[in-house]
Amino acid sequence: MTTAASLAHADINNLESLFMPFTAQRQFKKEPRLLVGAEGVHYIARDGRRILDGSAGLWCVNAGHGRKEISEAIKAQADQMDYAPSFQMGHPAAFELASRVAGIAPKGLDTVFFANSGSEAVDTALKIALAYHRARGQAERVRFIGRERGYHGIGFGGMSVGGIKANRKMFGTMLPGVDHLPHTHDLARNAFARGLPDHGVEFADRLEAICELHDPSTIAAVIVEPVPGSTGVLPPPKGYLQRLRDICTKHGILLIFDEVITGFGRVGAAFASEAFGVTPDMMTIAKGLTNGAVPASGIVMGRGIYDAFMTGPEWAIELAHGYTYSAHPLAVAAGLATLDIYRDENLFERSASLTPKFEALMHDMADAPNVIDVRNVGLMGAVELSARPGEPGKRGFDVFLECFAQGLYLRSAGDSLAMSPPLIVTESEMEQMAAILKKAIATVS
Ligand SMILES: Cc1ncc(COP(=O)(O)O)c(C=O)c1O
Repeated sequence: MTTAASLAHADINNLESLFMPFTAQRQFKKEPRLLVGAEGVHYIARDGRRILDGSAGLWCVNAGHGRKEISEAIKAQADQMDYAPSFQMGHPAAFELASRVAGIAPKGLDTVFFANSGSEAVDTALKIALAYHRARGQAERVRFIGRERGYHGIGFGGMSVGGIKANRKMFGTMLPGVDHLPHTHDLARNAFARGLPDHGVEFADRLEAICELHDPSTIAAVIVEPVPGSTGVLPPPKGYLQRLRDICTKHGILLIFDEVITGFGRVGAAFASEAFGVTPDMMTIAKGLTNGAVPASGIVMGRGIYDAFMTGPEWAIELAHGYTYSAHPLAVAAGLATLDIYRDENLFERSASLTPKFEALMHDMADAPNVIDVRNVGLMGAVELSARPGEPGKRGFDVFLECFAQGLYLRSAGDSLAMSPPLIVTESEMEQMAAILKKAIATVS
């Protein structure tokens, strides 16, 4: 007989209905890794084990899990007003969040457009770049320059400027008019560098060559992550971002920093732009904006970009772009509560002050078997392992599985293991994380 209880049980155990994102489905469904709770820097697995969260979820839970201030704010907002249309209407908290974000953004970046995910933020930034140039009478600026190994989400725009081969190869011809800078990962010269590597500023000069090839007056924007994260944490060579900035300024090209991972304290300042002293024309933000509690993202830009659209009759819509859920009330409530926590607990400063200890723990893995590089900046770092012949990524994946079995969740990116703990992590929790990872690397041959 089928009872309600047995049905519920059957539903919980049926993993087949879900097509999971960026997941090895068949492996997962044989040995599911199910999380049912979260608190501080820990997840609770379905079997009751406490799992250290070495990756702040997916680089987003910067203030740690289970923050009551955030969940209470979401609940209160849901009770007061569940949803407000974002087209031709507004709600006060959306304006407040925009000005709060502008208040911590680098000087000159003071206007915010809201979306829901990093991918949407990237596609929005690319569209704003095109429309901005067109509004100023430079409609011929239609090209985008991304970078090899870059990750800008999975929309057609982000995928096209992105440079992770596996994320592109199944999906056709991409946006036209996109070129790519070389990546800056230079194991021969920079392996085991601490912080920003010394070599590689000249990788930025390739932008001049690309400008010459296409004629710079056809290029709308250059987009890079200040620190590529999803490809395995590649800190920029010293001077590299400034050189990109200089070349873009020289040719009137917009520079977009994708700060979806690096924003909100990850590299020891509110944004990587501040940490590295290089200000882009636009930056994309997401993840840490709401501590991962409600999907939300944004594009932060200089006033000049906004002003370029303020032409034509006042009753006419200036930018034909937006999302049903732009500045969703629940996301905005989560965002405001999250920014309060960052401020009240000085979490960006905390990230900076934990960096030396984090760096030491990461580099302590240099002598573990198969380690060919260790990289770090702020509270993001990676250990790269040599690939097994004919199986790139498999050794990294096996270490990821072993870590989970031993009580640590972290991200594997090919054969690199990336760490980015919540910014509330303590030194002893970082030690526990590093010890599990080091042991797992030694266990997995
Ligand atoms: C730099 C960067 N841009 C964009 C994205 C895409 O964000 P989302 O997964 O929210 O679409 C990510 C996600 O990891 C990212 O790291």
